[in-house]
Order: sequence, then C-alpha cells, then structure tokens
Amino acid sequence: MDKIIVKGGRRLAGDVRISGAKNAALPILISSLLTEGVNTYTNVPELMDIQSTNLLLSELGARVETSAGTVRIDATGLKEHEAAYDLVRKMRASVLVLGPLLARLGRARVSLPGGCAIGARPINLHLKGLAALGAAIELKHGYVEASAGRLKGADIYFDMVTVTGTENLMMAAATAKGTTVLRNAAREPEVVALADTLVKMGAYIEGAGTSIITIHGVSSLNPVETAIIPDRIETGTFMMGAILTRGSVTLLECDPNHLGATINKLRRTGAEIDTAPGTIHVSAKDDITSVDVKTQPYPGFPTDMQAQFMVLMSIANGTSMISETIFENRYIHVSELIRMGADIKVDGNIAIVKGKPGLAGAQVMATDLRASASLILAGLVAEGHTEVNRVYHLDRGYESIEKKFAGLGADIRRVK
Ligand code: EPU
Repeated sequence: MDKIIVKGGRRLAGDVRISGAKNAALPILISSLLTEGVNTYTNVPELMDIQSTNLLLSELGARVETSAGTVRIDATGLKEHEAAYDLVRKMRASVLVLGPLLARLGRARVSLPGGCAIGARPINLHLKGLAALGAAIELKHGYVEASAGRLKGADIYFDMVTVTGTENLMMAAATAKGTTVLRNAAREPEVVALADTLVKMGAYIEGAGTSIITIHGVSSLNPVETAIIPDRIETGTFMMGAILTRGSVTLLECDPNHLGATINKLRRTGAEIDTAPGTIHVSAKDDITSVDVKTQPYPGFPTDMQAQFMVLMSIANGTSMISETIFENRYIHVSELIRMGADIKVDGNIAIVKGKPGLAGAQVMATDLRASASLILAGLVAEGHTEVNRVYHLDRGYESIEKKFAGLGADIRRVK
C-alpha cells in the first residue's frame, strides 16, 4: 500500500491550483440519473470517490466516459435499481442514488451504509423525507428497499441539518408532482451547486443557499453541460499549510466566498489573507495566535476543516478550545498528533489544544480523509520525517496532494 513521506521544515511558497469539489461533484454526477441524453461535466477532480461514483452509475446502466477532468454521463439506458454493499461501504455518498432512482424508476434498493470512522452517520432523515414524498420504505437484510409511483410534493422539516439528505430530497422532488418545501435545509455551497445544476436541467427550485428550499416539480429534466465548483476544503487545507510553514502561497481557481468562516478564523491567528475573485493569497507571520473554533453547518466553520485547524493550534502561542458538533467521533487524528508531540486533551466533543513550539515526525495513519490530510500538514512542520500510511483515504478526496505540496516547495513524496 502507498505511503507518503514528508520531511518537515520547508516553507511553502508559490501558486497552487485548486481542484473541483469532491462533495459537489458526487451529487451532480449522480443527478445525471434524472435525465436522458449526454450530460457533460468539467473541472471534475480525479479522485477515488469519483471513480467509485462512475462505477456505480455504470452498474446502474448509465454510459460513463471520462477524459482529463471531463466526465460525460448518459443515463438513457438506466435499468438497474440497486447500489450494492461493496460500493456503499467504500463510499457513503452512494446513498445519493436513492432519490434519483425513485424519481426515475419508481424503485431503489440501496445498501445501508452503516457507521464509519467519524460517527454512526444514520440516513434516517433521507428516508423520512422520501417517505413524506410518498415512497414505501422497508429495511431488509441491510438494504433500504424503496418504491413509489410518481412522487408527490410535501412539506418536510429536517430535525438536523443534513447535506446529502437535503441533496437526496432535492433530486427526488425535482420531478415530483406538486411542490416540496425543505425546511432546515443545508446551506452548503455544494447544495447550491447541485440546485444550480438541477435548474439548468429544467428544475424549478427556489431558496437554495437558505434554510428553506422550495421545489416545484416538473415532468422531466434535460441533460446539461456544467463545471464543478472549486473545492473549499482543499482550499482551506492549503491555506493552513501556508500558515503552518510560515509561507506565502497564492491559491488559484478557488472561491473565497465559500470560505468566510475559515478566512475569518485564520486571520485571527495572525495570518495575512487577501482575496480577489477566484484567488486567495496567504502570507503567514512567525507567530501563530491560538483561536477557539466550533464546527457548525455552513456558513459556520466546517467539520471537514477541524482536523487541519487542530494541527495549526498545536503549534500556536497559547491554548485553544475546539468543539466538534457535527460528528461524534471526529477526533481520530488526536492520538496520532499526540504521538507527534502535540499537547491535546479531549473531553467529549471538546478538545483543548496547548500550543507547543514544534512537532516531531513519526509513522502515523488515520482512518478518515480529513484526519489523513491533517497528518500531512503536521508532517510539513514537524522535525524530521513523517510517514503517513493508509494513503487511500487521501486519494478518495485530494487530487495529487503530494504533487501540489511538492510544487510549493515541500519535501514530500509518495512511496509505492
Ligand atoms: N444525520 C442524521 N440523520 C441523517 C443524516 C444525517 O442523524 O439522516 C446526522 C449525521 O450523523 C451528522 C449530521 O447529521 O451528525 C450531519 O451529517 P450530514 O448528513 O450533513 O453529513 P453527510 O451529508 O453524510 C456531508 C459531506 C461530509 C461532511 C458533512 C458535514 C458529502 C458527500 N459528504 O456528509 O464530507 O463532513 O456533509 O458537512 O457531501 C468529507 O468530505 O470528508 C466528508 C466527510
């Protein structure tokens, strides 16, 4: 299995191009199931999760063609209605096929994803919403079996803000009969990107980006050509890399508007951050100030950036408090950071991080994508070598992470 070896101590400098957003691409590629004809998507990141999605769509009967950042999907021949355990186990976002399959075929059989490293992550709110749209839902042998005639619009309130839940319901409701209102909907930029794509397909959706989304069902949707928005989590990860190494980095082809909370918090650490449309420039100061952070649904500070921020706080001046409110078990990186010399104490969902002058390289691994990214960041600033194992988690969600960091001057390489 591949590993990434980082020798710490190099200051990052230069430009880095940000890739398309994984979490926008996944639902958008899957939304092709709602149409007949060829959809063309550009700026699609080359990631394991994208390959898994393409495989799933092919297994359902869609024709999928890929070439350098472009994916073409034609779901005219959609015939299968099952997402099997093997795929859903590898990638939870596979549950996003539930809504489109029900809308298009009137039935879906999708493996229940089960828990994962960061928490139990149930999909009860997806299922409750689909039931409200008129689907009959049964849980059998570890699978969700759903069936329906034409779905019917409904007024749905989410007990918790759920990103993929909102996306699943938006896709299901796009061709339902009548109007659906989603209340307490997720406001993430990826939800807005999906809504924009559905609207291009001919859907009638209002309020995406607010907590009330209204979908007036239409009879059918048409294929589209659209570009995937930039990855805000990748953007934030590179910003933190720049600050950690006291570097000076310009991020290109990103969207600063999607990073309000992150930019705000990073400025408070003392870094200088300038934004212009499509660009962010970060230049770090020698002193990093401790700042408290609490993860929240968008526009709050993203849970997907918590592990990376914790690395920054591990070498900051002073003590910070990090509260994780989205997932119950998203501190898997903590024990590895402690092995690298960090001073972190966790009590429930709160981590108290006492900043220290430095970290020390070690052999580490993590069982989650963002936790793995945080270990690379820690390696960039640690003394000596850090060997990050189980790299396949990184390959699920960061395009060429080691090449991009190397391009900024890091001493980093992949060993096969
Ligand atoms: N939840 C429920 N019931 C549900 C759905 C969610 O209780 O039916 C709970 C979850 O257990 C969690 C909270 O609600 O405690 C929020 O979960 P959400 O549904 O928003 O998460 P998700 O849609 O499964 C997406 C991203 C995650 C990101 C979260 C939170 C995709 C494909 N995944 O997951 O991204 O952490 O939103 O922002 O969009 C990652 O990229 O590394 C990643 C994990």
